[in-house]
Amino acid sequence: MILVTGGAGFIGANFVLDWLAQSDETVINLDALTYAGNRQNLESLARDERHLFVQGDIGDSILVDRLLVQHRPRAIINFAAESHVDRSIHGPEDFIQTNIVGTFRLLEAVRAYWNELQDEAKQNFRFLHVSTDEVYGSLVKDDPAFTETHRYEPNSPYSASKAASDHLVRAYHHTYGLPVLTTNCSNNYGPYHFPEKLIPLMIINALAGKHLPVYGDGQQIRDWLYVKDHCSAIRRVLEAGKVGEVYNIGGWNEKPNIDIVHTVCALLDELQARADSKSYREQITYVTDRPGHDRRYAIDASKIERELGWKPTETFETGIRKTVQWYLENQSWVANVQSGSYREWVEKNYTGRTA
Ligand code: NAD
Ligand code: TYD
Repeated sequence: MILVTGGAGFIGANFVLDWLAQSDETVINLDALTYAGNRQNLESLARDERHLFVQGDIGDSILVDRLLVQHRPRAIINFAAESHVDRSIHGPEDFIQTNIVGTFRLLEAVRAYWNELQDEAKQNFRFLHVSTDEVYGSLVKDDPAFTETHRYEPNSPYSASKAASDHLVRAYHHTYGLPVLTTNCSNNYGPYHFPEKLIPLMIINALAGKHLPVYGDGQQIRDWLYVKDHCSAIRRVLEAGKVGEVYNIGGWNEKPNIDIVHTVCALLDELQARADSKSYREQITYVTDRPGHDRRYAIDASKIERELGWKPTETFETGIRKTVQWYLENQSWVANVQSGSYREWVEKNYTGRTA
């Protein structure tokens, strides 16, 4: 079996669902169920014996030791993290705790477990750490896209904490021989994306008749990857990645934020037009920029294509249409995630931003 951490969050839940759609190998899913974790994402597995959900913290060494000894996974995929840049600006503490201390404790528990494995089990074991392109910093317009050897230059408390975790993972390989793999991917989008992030926030605000808050001039560029393509890339790295190596994963879809918002508006105009027949674009409002806002991310995903034969299957056009349709068809999921704590977050992040 495999152990997945953070499997009730956006990417982790998509990964668990995809894994069990393609394999009968059991998944132990360790997730602390922070504001970002949602068991509703895994509802379809409620009676599936191949999925064992455990609520707990990756930093709880006693719990993790017990899970490892009891279930003896052949691989661990570490998705668990605090993942939102704006939240890291308002309060970095949780990011240090989970992304750095939590990853460290998880690595310590895994090292002790791996040391006791024998022969083939020891040789075949893998620890796959899921990271981000944000550790590489920000690019200017014509810079080449990030390769795996790009210097680490994190700019936000979020990316700095992920960079620290990547360094720990690397060090556990070089120092202790732990068989690790690291993936650094670009911005994901798709089903179950929590509406604090750009794409789901714009869909949900548009449908609710609210402002669509674009930070600064809206010309910041992100490189968008459909979440199911990300999941297939992780499966491929787990299966065939070379121990100790880093693989960048991206969708070859660089777009300025304002283009993303225009695309979402156009799809909603087509699929669920406003009652007054005006475009959702009318709701766009430029607001105060994010402090330290990275201007451009771009992933060069040629290594994973060349060495492991992986390529994304969705274009941005096909992926964003599926995503908007998913949100329109899953309004009860949308309603359930907009709890009191979500409303508090929206208030905290947006009230002070002048239009
Ligand atoms: P998410 O915030 O949606 O989910 C994170 C999950 O981790 C939640 O279910 C949460 O409950 C759980 N979690 C948080 N702290 C925990 C802890 N201490 N112990 C156990 N579980 C804990 O995040 P996501 O978007 O699914 O991202 C998953 C991973 O991918 C993260 O490591 C993130 O840094 C990385 N990543 C995400 C993106 C993106 O676009 N979303 C891009 C690049 C990299
Ligand atoms: P986000 O989804 O938070 O991901 P990240 O910061 O990890 O790239 O934001 C994507 C881009 O969208 C980023 O440049 C910030 C911008 N953005 C807005 O313009 N308005 C918003 O309300 C949000 C949440 C993000």
